[in-house]
Amino acid sequence: MDIEKKKRNEMAFKIFIIGVTGYIAGDALYALTRKYPDYEYVALVRCESSAARVRGAYPSVRVVLGSLDDADLIRKEAAWADLVLDGADADHVVAMNAIVAGLVEGHSASRPGFWLHTSGTGIMTYSDTALDRFGQPPDREYDDVDRLDEITNVPDEAFHRITDKIVLECGTKHVKVVNTAIVCPPTIYGAGRGPVNTRSKQCPALANVILTKGQAPIIGTGQASTNNVHIGDLSEAFTLLVEAAVGGNFSSEIWGARGYHVVGNDKHAWGPLARSMTAKARDLGLIEVDGEVKDYQMSKEEAYKVAGWDGLSWGLNNVCNARRLRETLGWAPKYPTLEEEIPETLNAEAKRIGLI
Ligand SMILES: *[C@@H]1O[C@H](CO)[C@@H](O)[C@H](O)[C@H]1NC(C)=O
Repeated sequence: MDIEKKKRNEMAFKIFIIGVTGYIAGDALYALTRKYPDYEYVALVRCESSAARVRGAYPSVRVVLGSLDDADLIRKEAAWADLVLDGADADHVVAMNAIVAGLVEGHSASRPGFWLHTSGTGIMTYSDTALDRFGQPPDREYDDVDRLDEITNVPDEAFHRITDKIVLECGTKHVKVVNTAIVCPPTIYGAGRGPVNTRSKQCPALANVILTKGQAPIIGTGQASTNNVHIGDLSEAFTLLVEAAVGGNFSSEIWGARGYHVVGNDKHAWGPLARSMTAKARDLGLIEVDGEVKDYQMSKEEAYKVAGWDGLSWGLNNVCNARRLRETLGWAPKYPTLEEEIPETLNAEAKRIGLI
């Protein structure tokens, strides 16, 4: 390595990324390495076969073999990195605590660290779950600027709350040393560009039911609603936050107690989406329907049976006026909308299950 290159590498921004074999962090790795090939990337990967695929696609990424339970390893890499991006299992307490320990140990006010943690708007479904309000229209809308407190203070039983708390606590207790930002995506759609898993969950699972039953699954009134975001726009959100870190923007509207970014583009109700996907499946010849598409009323139990949590999510509200990232860093979605992406979603699922 010539001296110039060596010098550059010594100064390169260092990113430790967890979850690259998954849909979210895999796409983030793709977007970041394309835009910033000279940064140093380290990826935690569980098994050798996946590691080989990551190395094959990204020869310059250093792969460390380990699981989310390998606290010492995670701690060491978090101490080394300038920024940790975790997008694996939003609820893994051992891994989150190891990230905190490493970031605190390896950083100081003169060399601050950054942490982008991936949560999910599932946190906002707790009231429906608690009240057993299933398949009903939304009874509230969150706002990640004016009423952020409601999001950062959801009850402990809410989804992802346990790890959100670890991140928020880290960002407030170690302010100036560790700058934390929680990235909170709603329903994500679109094909990922990562090295291993490129499939999202909720919409492909819905496509699956439509393709196998030939009808539109409707839960309750069909009006339960959520925000959505294209995976490419979500990666753009991570990129903007990385750029804020590299540029040394320590704004308290981006990091710490108020560093909670709901990354939502549009919103949709699940019933109308299911009907529109079913009609499109008919038009594409993927299902046989004479005339108008029909509803298929699905109970909570059946939704869970066919698609687990993703099935249940079609009956739960989590709607937010997602403003923070737009207002702080100018995030603006530019990838296709959920509606525009329907043919892709259907075709990908049809291929996966061998229909075409
Ligand atoms: C840092 O971010 C804040 C919040 O978005 C913004 O108001 C400010 O202009 C940014 N500062 C710089 C130097 O970019």
